[in-house]
Amino acid sequence: MADIRTFDSIVPAEFVENAVKEIKDQVGDGKVLLALSGGVDSSVCAALISKAIGKQLTCVFVDHGLLRKYEAEEVCGVFGENGPYDLNFVFVDARQRFYKKLEGVTDPEKKRKIIGEEFIRVFEEEAKKIGHIDYLAQGTIYPDILESKTADGKVIKSHHNVGGLPDFIDFKGLVEPVKFLYKEEVRSVGRELGLDEKYVSRQPFPGPGIGVRVVGEITEARCEILRDADWIWREEMAKAGYDKLCSQYFAVLTNMKTVGIAANDRGGERTFDYTVALRAIKTENFVTAKAVELPFSFLNMVASRITKEVEHVNRVMYDVTDKPPATIEME
Ligand code: XMP
Repeated sequence: MADIRTFDSIVPAEFVENAVKEIKDQVGDGKVLLALSGGVDSSVCAALISKAIGKQLTCVFVDHGLLRKYEAEEVCGVFGENGPYDLNFVFVDARQRFYKKLEGVTDPEKKRKIIGEEFIRVFEEEAKKIGHIDYLAQGTIYPDILESKTADGKVIKSHHNVGGLPDFIDFKGLVEPVKFLYKEEVRSVGRELGLDEKYVSRQPFPGPGIGVRVVGEITEARCEILRDADWIWREEMAKAGYDKLCSQYFAVLTNMKTVGIAANDRGGERTFDYTVALRAIKTENFVTAKAVELPFSFLNMVASRITKEVEHVNRVMYDVTDKPPATIEME
């Protein structure tokens, strides 16, 4: 099938009905494997494909140790055996494996490469355990296709998702039920399928996860610091309603350590600890972005919470830089 969209917009209920039929026709009684990241696209795919073929679908969810706080628990809660979906769910705790591979690595592109390659390896091992697989499902969306092609249809950029397409599985083809949809349409299909709003309206999260938000070496301890600071930032942003102003907002653990004074019950003690950077941006297309203007009193309150509640952080900064010249992520 040509990768060209031939319609203007979708009616979610109709889309779901047609997609379910198409998936059934394509797959028959075959087995489908999906790498579930917990992001909007793969979550909607999981819900849609499970509606069509139930337990013929197996979702593999890998915790690479670079997820946000409570993310693994949330994904397991929604798609695991106690969740509402009829599918096979495999959870892989690969955290230590990734931390080991990333030991001593500080170059951002090397980190991305290691995370991507290790992800494929873990996924491959799980696929082998499952046995024969007929189809591989992917949460490809229309912008991925548009970004991947030149005018003559040649692929110039494999899309961003961690791991890309594993070439080891001998499968009949791909199941890509949302490949002609734009992000907002994928969200509306998710709502139609009853996915929790928390999932459907999720902000984009990079495939290498907080691996690109822990500047410098990735260790479990540094990831925990970042996770705790990021949790507070996202909690306060949502509480204040400022999340609605942003396309993406997150915390970054910098590799800068400075002198400070303990803000908790060790009051007065000299510290030499990390600086956390907070980022909040608004963008239409993620190619350019504006830093979001937030009240000083709010930022000051968050800084105070983070330095009090997160050990080894004694300074918090807010990134006021647009893209360009900065990028959205710091690595
Ligand atoms: P930058 O930092 O390039 O980010 O301005 C643009 C958008 O892409 C996301 N991003 C990534 N997504 N793998 C991904 O899947 C990556 O390596 C990666 N790096 C950046 C970023 O979160 C933003 O939405």
